Amino acid sequence: IRNAKQVVQICRNRQLMLKGSEMKNIAVVDRTDNSGVSIIVDNAGIIADVCLDIDADIKYSGVTFRRNIDATGKCVIPGLVDAHTHPVWAGDRVHEFAMKLAGATYLEVHEKGGGIHHTVDKTHEATKDYLLSLFMNRLRKMLRHGTTLLEAKSGYGLDTQNEIKMLEVIESGKSAQPIEISSTYCGAHTIPKSMSLQEASNDVIANQIPALKELIYKGELNIDNIDVFCEKGVFDIVETRKILKAGVDIGLNINFHGDELNPTNSAELAAELNSCAVSHLEEISPEGIQAIAKSSTIAILLPTTAYILRLKRPPARLMLEKGVAIALGSDFNPNAYCMNMPMVMHLACVLLNLSMEEALVASTINAAAALKKSDKHGSLEPGKYANLLILAAERWEHLIYQFGETDSMIETVVIRGCVV
Ligand code: NIG
Ligand code: FE
Repeated sequence: IRNAKQVVQICRNRQLMLKGSEMKNIAVVDRTDNSGVSIIVDNAGIIADVCLDIDADIKYSGVTFRRNIDATGKCVIPGLVDAHTHPVWAGDRVHEFAMKLAGATYLEVHEKGGGIHHTVDKTHEATKDYLLSLFMNRLRKMLRHGTTLLEAKSGYGLDTQNEIKMLEVIESGKSAQPIEISSTYCGAHTIPKSMSLQEASNDVIANQIPALKELIYKGELNIDNIDVFCEKGVFDIVETRKILKAGVDIGLNINFHGDELNPTNSAELAAELNSCAVSHLEEISPEGIQAIAKSSTIAILLPTTAYILRLKRPPARLMLEKGVAIALGSDFNPNAYCMNMPMVMHLACVLLNLSMEEALVASTINAAAALKKSDKHGSLEPGKYANLLILAAERWEHLIYQFGETDSMIETVVIRGCVV
């Protein structure tokens, strides 16, 4: 890639995540008076160099490149990473959006048998092929909005057969399109209508997880993470701990929902269990903030959900001040219908008071770290995948500032060196 106006590297020293105040400083290479900026990519789709064109001309004078992309007047940023999504489900919940606008809370809709229960019913009825077609369509849209690495959860199955069905759909999606996917088993997304908390927890631990273990060991399924919806009236902290530990026992990374609608000490639990990540955190306690600041757990904030449900905002500034590493996710699901990470960054800036630099770090290196993939994703440094976006803009900040214009501003998406 030649003659870029600006290349946002994010970092240069191969840090795996940026914590607290480190998030405000990003590494950017700007064009000089006499030279644009180049990114050199090798045949395996790995970044070899980021440097000025004049230096590239000397260093690579004997090299014939298979392809040159002219980025005159354009900015290049890393491919975006969406650290939290629920992208496989049938039906929609537009009628519930109307109920919530009229004053119903998320848990009121849920307790009346709507919410997750509604989507579980529709997803049970759907065939695998139909779910895959919906998923593929959503992945295409996410790619258009610049997502190159995605976390994808199950969780609308809630029984062994349907959870496996969802995880198989995610597995099929991995090989059918270019976005890399980290898959998350979320069988404990809610308590099925016919079960008690204890029965649901037992089913997850005694039936669902052993069935997944077998498929993983046979090489028929890849699952990366385990998730639980830890919430008052859903899975309490005791059952959440048991389920997460059962997931760790079969080799999964912990990445769960907590401290969203009510305080549950989820952040403290996340640190205790050495979790990769914990999501939501609108109701995080001061002790929870301290606990994750000291740990390597990433706090995934989801401004779409806080916005649409008019929740208390997670205390992002306080978390940063205390040294927490923040990531962002779209939380795309039938409640929060957004698969646009630039929009998520915009909301994080306006609603959570992140700076644009912090929002970008949270949507690149830190989001990749939440998925344990920041060794290859999340920054434009030699040795990492050439996953990047070429923006038709004078400066990278326009991607966040001009909210709603994502489609036209992201001109080119490159994944592992290929234009996709
Ligand atoms: O992250 N809070 C739990 N899970 C999702 C919502 C899922 C749904 O409502 O279907 C979330 O917001
Ligand atoms: Fe979620």
